[in-house]
This record gives sequence, C-alpha cells and structure tokens, in this order.
Amino acid sequence: MKLLVYPGSFDPVTNGHMDIIERASKICDKLIVAVLVNHGKTPVFTMEERTMLLKKAIGDRENIEVCSFSGLLVDFMKRINARTIIKGLRAVSDFEYEMQMALLNRKLDNEIDTLFMMTSINNSFLSSSVVRELARNGAGVEDYVPHSIAPYIYEKFKKAGV
Ligand code: COA
Repeated sequence: MKLLVYPGSFDPVTNGHMDIIERASKICDKLIVAVLVNHGKTPVFTMEERTMLLKKAIGDRENIEVCSFSGLLVDFMKRINARTIIKGLRAVSDFEYEMQMALLNRKLDNEIDTLFMMTSINNSFLSSSVVRELARNGAGVEDYVPHSIAPYIYEKFKKAGV
C-alpha cells in the first residue's frame, strides 16, 4: 500500500495545506495528515483544536486520516510503518529549510524519503501566520481557509484575545 505522510503544525490548516492534501491523496493509497509539534513555534491552537479543524476541513474521505503525535516525525513514521513524507513548497525560500529537514530525517532513518509538491500559485503567499494575523485584527479569513472552519478561527481569537 502506498502510504504518504503529510506533517505540519497546521496552526491552523489553510487552503494552501488543503491544496496539497487534495493532490497528495490522489497519488497514494492512503494519506496520513500528521499534526506535530514544531518546538520552534508557540502554537495558538491546541493540538486537539488543530486536529479537529483538519478533520472538519477534510470531512469524510476514505483515504485520508488525521493523526497527532508529539515526538520525532521519524518515530511516528516507524510506528505506522510509513516511509514517505510529502511536503509542499511555496517558493525557493522554503527550499533551504525543507532540504535540511529532509536530509535530517533521512539521516535519522535511512529508509525515509521526502517528496515535494509545488503549492498552487494562488496559495503561494499563504501561511498559517498570515491567517492568524488577519483573524487577530478582525479581517476576513474566508478566502484563505476552508469555509467550514472559518467561524472556529474567529471564535478562538474573540475568546482568547490571542
Ligand atoms: N500552503 C500554504 N502554507 C504552507 C504550505 C502550503 N502548501 N506548506 C507550508 N505552509 C506554511 C505553514 O502554514 C507554516 O506557516 P507558519 O510558519 O506561518 O506557521 C510554514 O509554511 C511552515 O510549514 P511547515 O514546513 O509545514 O512547518 P511546520 O512548522 O508547520 O511543521 C514539522 C514542521 C511539524 C513538520 C516539523 O517541525 C517536525 O517534523 N516536527 C516534529 C519533530 C521532528 O521530527 N523534528 C525534525 C528533527 S529535529
């Protein structure tokens, strides 16, 4: 079975991530969307919220599963018997960091490969921090995140004042 793992912090999931999820799910038997901790970032949404928002955005799709994990990506991969990571590349500026991650993950486990998919041009400016910044300042985010999750994003910023 061709298993692909799409890891990220998804704080929150955006249309850019959804584009990769849609396209990646077509080139494998099963796509695991893995919500992980990036220790270089302090998330606004909890792990549970990020997972719930992804599940809501993806809906009922037979070959897509959402999981969460805290620890190394390679350990998660080993646990579920997966060998291939898929990541989106938005611009050349993403490449250096992604290359470092891909090489590091391969050094940690030489059975792991990373595939890269170019993000659609209309999402190339998008990131989770752009969405958070817009929502924090009361601007609309409907064009940038799946419609089903926009109300949760507004609610979070209204409640927490984050
Ligand atoms: N469209 C739009 N935005 C995208 C995108 C796409 N296709 N792909 C990525 N992005 C954005 C993300 O929203 C994120 O934006 P932000 O910085 O505003 O939050 C940014 O690009 C970086 O995304 P990504 O590369 O997925 O990083 P991440 O921080 O979301 O996730 C992990 C990185 C979680 C995969 C990585 O830290 C990890 O593997 N952690 C587990 C621990 C581990 O194994 N570490 C490696 C060994 S030390």
